[in-house]
Amino acid sequence: MSGKEFFLHRYEKLGWKPSDIKLKQAIRINPTNAPNLEETVERLQSRGIKLEKISFLEKGYWVSKAKLSAGATTEYLLGMYSIQEAAAQIPVSLFTDLEGKVVLDACAAPGGKTVQLADLMHNSGVIIALDVEKSKLIALANHLERCHVKNTVVYQMDARHVAELGIKFGRILLDVPCSGNFAADSSWFARRSLKDIEANAALQREILAKAAVSLRDDGEIVYATCSLEPEENEMNVDWAVRNLRLQVEEIECYGEKGLTEIFGQKLHRSVENCRRIWPGQTQGFFVCKFRKRDEP
Ligand SMILES: C[S@@+](CC[C@H](N)C(=O)[O-])C[C@H]1O[C@@H](n2cnc3c(N)ncnc32)[C@H](O)[C@@H]1O
Repeated sequence: MSGKEFFLHRYEKLGWKPSDIKLKQAIRINPTNAPNLEETVERLQSRGIKLEKISFLEKGYWVSKAKLSAGATTEYLLGMYSIQEAAAQIPVSLFTDLEGKVVLDACAAPGGKTVQLADLMHNSGVIIALDVEKSKLIALANHLERCHVKNTVVYQMDARHVAELGIKFGRILLDVPCSGNFAADSSWFARRSLKDIEANAALQREILAKAAVSLRDDGEIVYATCSLEPEENEMNVDWAVRNLRLQVEEIECYGEKGLTEIFGQKLHRSVENCRRIWPGQTQGFFVCKFRKRDEP
């Protein structure tokens, strides 16, 4: 089962019809390297990069006009900001008290969120950043170096083997591999089928299950995808609540409540605490925050 019509029909059944999708480029100012936000914005404006504050993000700006590429400025090379999609700036912002923690970034490359984590941690504590693909680790290392990240150790490792590190983590970011979405990829409908969505959803469940074992009892997991497909989002969260020692936390951020009824199937009511972002100015996105449930 695949094709544009098939997927659009599914979205309609979930209560959404695509309209007015105009993705906008966004940046996130990196206060570790640019402590004065206003000055940085002015510096970029003087170079011909006009910025507009994103209302739902603390350090995020839309690039509303640019005389040159946002990745071609001295300020970019100095790590003063990162080019980071607006919705993708949300997951890391959902963690509490990151400073000094032992953090796992389980699917880290190319590292946009690793840099954001290090920034909120003020380079304290430690981030263990994993990615399974060696070639992507070079981009990750470059990103960390450009942004002067000092608290991160990078491993080429499958997140499903994280227990081999023998570490219990206080915070775990699961920005899991997913099927993506059509708004950010013009060939998406031609490439994707329900079969590979289900395969991705199964891999995501395996990563979630292994991460839950490596989470401290007082720890937090943030799970994120840029997929619109419920199998990778609400249905996986429902599975996690029923099969792992995890509960879904309430979060306050941009987006709509997670869906609790999918194609006639009722999900655990706490799934509504997740946030689903249908594409518009941002790409499609989904985010969920878990904590460990007390033992029965
Ligand atoms: C959505 S991307 C991560 C983006 C990254 N967090 C960022 O903000 O730049 C998902 C990543 O998961 C990696 N990946 C896929 N399977 C994995 C696995 N089993 N264990 C760890 N990483 C995996 C992919 O190589 C890809 O880089």
